[in-house]
Amino acid sequence: MIFLKNDYSLGAHPKVMDALVETNMELTDGYGEDPYCAKAGELIRDLFGCPDADVHFLTGGTQTNQTALAAFLLRPHWSVISADTGHICVHETGAIEATGHKINHVATPDGKLTPRMIEDVLIFHEDEHYVLPKAIYISNSTETGLIYTKDELIALRECCDKNGLLLYLDGARMAMALTCGGSDLTYEDFPELCDAFYIGGTKCGALFGEALVIVNDELKPDMRFLIKQRGGLLAKGRLLGVQFQALMGDGLYLELGAHANRMAEILAKGIAEKGYEFVIPPQTNLIFPLLPKTLEEELRKKVMYETWPVVTETHQAIRLVTSWGTTEEEVRALLELI
Ligand SMILES: Cc1ncc(COP(=O)(O)O)c(C=O)c1O
Repeated sequence: MIFLKNDYSLGAHPKVMDALVETNMELTDGYGEDPYCAKAGELIRDLFGCPDADVHFLTGGTQTNQTALAAFLLRPHWSVISADTGHICVHETGAIEATGHKINHVATPDGKLTPRMIEDVLIFHEDEHYVLPKAIYISNSTETGLIYTKDELIALRECCDKNGLLLYLDGARMAMALTCGGSDLTYEDFPELCDAFYIGGTKCGALFGEALVIVNDELKPDMRFLIKQRGGLLAKGRLLGVQFQALMGDGLYLELGAHANRMAEILAKGIAEKGYEFVIPPQTNLIFPLLPKTLEEELRKKVMYETWPVVTETHQAIRLVTSWGTTEEEVRALLELI
């Protein structure tokens, strides 16, 4: 089987695994209070140009989103605005709602939020008969594999400032968002434009783990309490520091994102050359071709992927995901099958 179902099922990139093995028998303090987490935090602050940011390491995306947004949504009636395709709306089992906060879902044509969409929500939430939107959730790249440009992110920041909102960015696939064609964001833009964001490790070469970066001073207090209360303060916290040091240390992180994107680009070009269309324009490592049902039924016998909910009488959309470990041979083999 050719595996194009997701970008997290492989273990760790060998350089990350080597770093884990090399430090395996060391004894350090736990819960993130070890020299590896300290060094990885320093590296992140340097690379992102945010010397005063707090960096915390957590184990997964849902946990990071829930914990970070708990710091944003300080009062019971505050809510968070997200695209209705946003990960917190569709794939986190109501984790935000379980904290007692509503998500204001916004329909979007492509999974990306705009200031206009946010302001449309605010117009309808002006008094105490509604929840009070206080935070914006976006991911870069999005669930639809698209990215925000710098101008788009600046526009969201300006909208947040104008309306007293906080901006949170889920960077589960930040490595891919930064290295695809058309991306004009750099590491430094994230702390410049967001109140908090996370650097995804799970989908970008780590065995597991995400680095949460808190930029806004008001959100910093008690974050370790919030993490611990949600079961996120890992006793073997060193494992996260070791991995992020290996990933961020010598440019590996962006190299892995660029590889995943390159594999998707070859795949998308080959599929387009065969005359098939995409339901969302390919941009990063998640691509969504619309294939004849007869072909799709054959493909699924030899390729692992997910279907995407766009279906016509004759065609079915599918989601193909490349990763840091996808090989060009696998991509060519799939094109051959098609
Ligand atoms: C954009 C995004 N955010 C968060 C998550 C949640 O990650 P986890 O499955 O580790 O909770 C995912 C996972 O698919 C994701 O794609």
